Amino acid sequence: MPETVQPALEFDVEKYLRNSRKVDISDIDLSQAARYPVSDDEVRALTYMCDIESHTVVYLRAILNTCAIEDPQTTSFLSCWAYEEFFHGRTIRQFLDAIGAPVSATRMLEVQQASSFTEWLKELGSSILCRFSRHFHGAYLTYGAISELSTLEGYGVMAQRTQNPVLAEIVRRLAKDERRHFSFYYNKARLELRARNAQRLTNFVIRHFWLPVGGGVKSDSEVSWILSFILGNPEGAEIARRIDTTIAKLPGLEWFDRLSSSRDEALEAMGKEKEMSCPECRSVFVEERT
Ligand SMILES: [Fe+2]
Ligand SMILES: [Fe+2]
Repeated sequence: MPETVQPALEFDVEKYLRNSRKVDISDIDLSQAARYPVSDDEVRALTYMCDIESHTVVYLRAILNTCAIEDPQTTSFLSCWAYEEFFHGRTIRQFLDAIGAPVSATRMLEVQQASSFTEWLKELGSSILCRFSRHFHGAYLTYGAISELSTLEGYGVMAQRTQNPVLAEIVRRLAKDERRHFSFYYNKARLELRARNAQRLTNFVIRHFWLPVGGGVKSDSEVSWILSFILGNPEGAEIARRIDTTIAKLPGLEWFDRLSSSRDEALEAMGKEKEMSCPECRSVFVEERT
């Protein structure tokens, strides 16, 4: 059995509020970043993450449109959470600037305009669902837990894999924040999901509407690319299983295997794409993955 990420048994919201601050990189000399290698794939992954971190405020608007706004603990957390996520996006942007791969000033607007109609529908659906069931809390908290855990693991992979020590340190610090975010969503979801109806509604929402981090905001091919970049190798398969196992410990979510299945689908989609553009690359790509 793969290990699971163990959050603290209780999440101390007051402590989180007291300690919440923007990620501090004032001791990191960004002018040194360009002295070390950064691969094109890393730039692509960082641009993806920068887009998603910066998109948090749009997600916040959607989530506050639901019954999340009725829970004082959640609204306190979300206020600080959005602030921290904003600075994650800004920090990645600073790193990309420092290595000569700047993100355009209008990038956030472009990402918002590209975000799909289904995202909008999902927002609308959430606010309507809330009017009919007080159990919707379990659904968005579970969704949040999966996203934060995926992001935390993603930054961990980048920190371990990169040849650039400046980047490694930055993503390690971002991962530290993501771990606390995950802990909030996961622990609160666990409490909400004690109710059988909350489990039913959460299962419905996750089965039908769940997407990997960036899904609905980035194109499907870009989502497949990031999944295969982060999780494509055998260690990645292990990480996907670890995320699944952790989420499957939530009440009613025993079936959860979506990270592993999304990884498989992404690898298949990437293989097909490569095969179409370069048939002889197919065997090489399959070898790379195994
Ligand atoms: Fe973040
Ligand atoms: Fe986060």
